[in-house]
Amino acid sequence: MAGRYDAVRVADRVYWVGAVDWGLRDFHGYATHRGTSYNAYLVLADKVTLIDTVKGPFAEELLARIASIVEPRAVDYIVSNHAEMDHSGALLRLIEVARPDKVFASRMGVEALREHFGLAEVEAVADGGRLDLGGRSLTFLEARMLHWPDSMLSYLAEERILFSNDAFGMHLASSERYADELDPAVLEQEAAKYYANILLPYSKLVPRLIEKAAGAGITPEALAMIAPSHGPIWRREVGTIVNWYARWAAQERGSKALVVYDTMWGSTEKMARAIGEGLMEGGASARLMPLRASHRSDVATEVLDAGALVVGSPTLNGGVLPTVADVLTYLRGLRPQGMVGGAFGSYGWAGEAVNQIENLLAEMKVERVQDGIKVRYVPDETALEQCRGLGRAVASKLREARGQGSGA
Ligand code: FEO
Repeated sequence: MAGRYDAVRVADRVYWVGAVDWGLRDFHGYATHRGTSYNAYLVLADKVTLIDTVKGPFAEELLARIASIVEPRAVDYIVSNHAEMDHSGALLRLIEVARPDKVFASRMGVEALREHFGLAEVEAVADGGRLDLGGRSLTFLEARMLHWPDSMLSYLAEERILFSNDAFGMHLASSERYADELDPAVLEQEAAKYYANILLPYSKLVPRLIEKAAGAGITPEALAMIAPSHGPIWRREVGTIVNWYARWAAQERGSKALVVYDTMWGSTEKMARAIGEGLMEGGASARLMPLRASHRSDVATEVLDAGALVVGSPTLNGGVLPTVADVLTYLRGLRPQGMVGGAFGSYGWAGEAVNQIENLLAEMKVERVQDGIKVRYVPDETALEQCRGLGRAVASKLREARGQGSGA
């Protein structure tokens, strides 16, 4: 048995019935330092409607929270905004217990639920379509590729609540259900991390979704709440998270330069530190991220507003260190736009790692500021000065990009 779990009332006849996953530290490769929540919502209209479910292992908790308000058998409709398993993993169990009259999803969601679970009876809702719940209604907004083809948002007009699923969410476990009860700095940090790691590749679609919602009258000013499927609900200053999204989608880049590296015997680290000194001399904000101490998803978060990405690896067996291959593969998939950068590393025989990093940076369309720096065995003072020079060159490029001239 799941034990006692209560629903949380969030509006008139609307309840949070989700689950908090306090111990989660890895979400498909994203380090969730603060855990997460899977938010599901129950709307008590004539047709009792559940919006989304939770990750599979939390199915009984979801059922217990529903049961604190109504018998799960009273659920008439289930709306699946998104088929990814963290929201649909408990769907089969809910269907088994609640036996709803209907399950709804976007057109692509119907396909995804069929292919994931063999569900044949899911009904498609149209983009912009309205579902009458009896005394309440839901309007659906497709959000294709934000971040799956099936993703959609549901709007409860009578309470002015946007159930936004992954959009505007964050991985943050808390007993507080509302953003205004939490530290604003933590909210911005975790929302930025979520955006960088989940939504960044689809940034061009974000302003289009905001415009499309506005076209349907769903603006931050008109909304009473944004209720995402991870992290807290926004009920005050709802525009805050929407404005953050607009800023992150624009990929505005500042004077921050990342130096991301790993090292075998300390030579590449000496180079990294010299590059950092050069960046600071040039007026950039340097952030060194040694990969033994920096998770790939934290690097991605820093990339969100960094102007430069400088990557270093010694050569190991003709290639880069596995940690460096990992982070570059991950970042390439996130498709950040508009950065400058460079490569560096120590070697013993041929120094292939630097060329491989340059190729990967080129694939990511990171503009190379100068040729990569290779140092045999251990950097001497001349080599370290070259590294400081790379740092200064990157800083100069960042100043130019910000219209502050190239400086001395
Ligand atoms: Fe929270 Fe895309 O699932």
